[in-house]
Amino acid sequence: MRVLVIGSGAREHALCLALAADPTVTSLACAPGNVGTAAVAEQYAVDVTDPAAVAALATQCGAQLVVVGPEAPLVAGVADAVRAAGIDCFGPSAEAAQLEGSKAFAKDVMAAAGVPTAGARVCTTADEVAAALDEFGAPYVVKDDGLAAGKGVVVTDDRALAEAHAAACGRVVIEEFLDGPEVSLFCVTDGTTVLPLLPAQDFKRIGDGDTGPNTGGMGAYAPLDWLPAGFADEIVRSVARPTVAEMARRGTPFAGLLYIGLALTGAGPRVVEFNARFGDPETQVVLALLDSGLGSLLRAAATGTLADVAAPQWRDGAAVTVVLAAAGYPAAPRTGDVLTGTEQPGIVHAGTRRRDDGAVVSNGGRVLCATAYGDDLAAARSAAYELLARVELPGGQYRTDIAERAVRGEVSG
Ligand code: AMP
Ligand code: GLY
Repeated sequence: MRVLVIGSGAREHALCLALAADPTVTSLACAPGNVGTAAVAEQYAVDVTDPAAVAALATQCGAQLVVVGPEAPLVAGVADAVRAAGIDCFGPSAEAAQLEGSKAFAKDVMAAAGVPTAGARVCTTADEVAAALDEFGAPYVVKDDGLAAGKGVVVTDDRALAEAHAAACGRVVIEEFLDGPEVSLFCVTDGTTVLPLLPAQDFKRIGDGDTGPNTGGMGAYAPLDWLPAGFADEIVRSVARPTVAEMARRGTPFAGLLYIGLALTGAGPRVVEFNARFGDPETQVVLALLDSGLGSLLRAAATGTLADVAAPQWRDGAAVTVVLAAAGYPAAPRTGDVLTGTEQPGIVHAGTRRRDDGAVVSNGGRVLCATAYGDDLAAARSAAYELLARVELPGGQYRTDIAERAVRGEVSG
């Protein structure tokens, strides 16, 4: 089959690499893509948030399956438009993508489905904000209700900062602070059947030791050997299936990738967030370990036939990815810096662009990821950092502690 991937991040490059390795995928296109996807897929220009334009491109380029990477096109209705054009699409409808598009909506679905999550209040006025901050106390968790590319959440002990973020956002969700290691679990679903992928851990803060502001994610690793046996199945039972059932009950079935962000608290796992698409950078490590066909899995989810598909298979060993971000990320990333060392296997491109003179230059906040596989986590971690050491980006920033505590056996669930 011919597959068209929509998006231009490291997630889309990783999706292209995994799809290219699936024998059922006979040809691959990506729009708008980046320097990395251009090496494995035909490249097309498109405004990814214009549903009619994406549907027209899918038709014109003969796609039999469209895989939508980022959340903004999903919330804009790209999957609906592609399906209306008669083409299979992996990705939820605009209505179902509200699970990510609105934190308040997600909380409402979680409450109706009995999914364990932080207590929360939706606030629109300064008085409501003050009351909710009083109710939950510090550390304060203030979330922009809408899409914010991973940067809409402020977790702080500083009351004035919490109030200022709430005022800047307008409508916010203020919630109880959840303490404990975080886990990202991706579930592929066709709206009824749910298949979990490997749990992974992301590092959201910009700085070593989980310091500084939240980002889209600065690195990840899998598998999480420290999780209790049967963890993914338990989350499918307590979170994924009830959520998928509640979405179907509302008449807005969720088919695509349900990303479950969890905190493993002393009282058990609690949902921190839902996303409606593959996570970035977790996808890079999860797909590096996938040992069965991604294209056939996503097509089954897109066509309501997931019950007929075998569960995904995984390689032994581990994978680590480390994000290289631009100077000034996350507040004000600088673009246009010349990169070297980007042609190495394992370099997964995000914000990169090829200049007219052939040079690869930075073109976004998260520029690329160094992704490596190893027989164990320590080997994968060393290999990822060795790979990244051979890349040059003026002013580039990366965390030096991705997967470090897990290698030392200091993480427990
Ligand atoms: P979200 O966009 O909801 O995933 O939030 C981004 C990040 O903020 C999460 O990955 C957590 O690190 C942190 N965060 C969100 N909600 C909470 C919470 N209730 N308690 C503690 N940290 C949180
Ligand atoms: N890595 C977090 C996200 O994709 O939202």
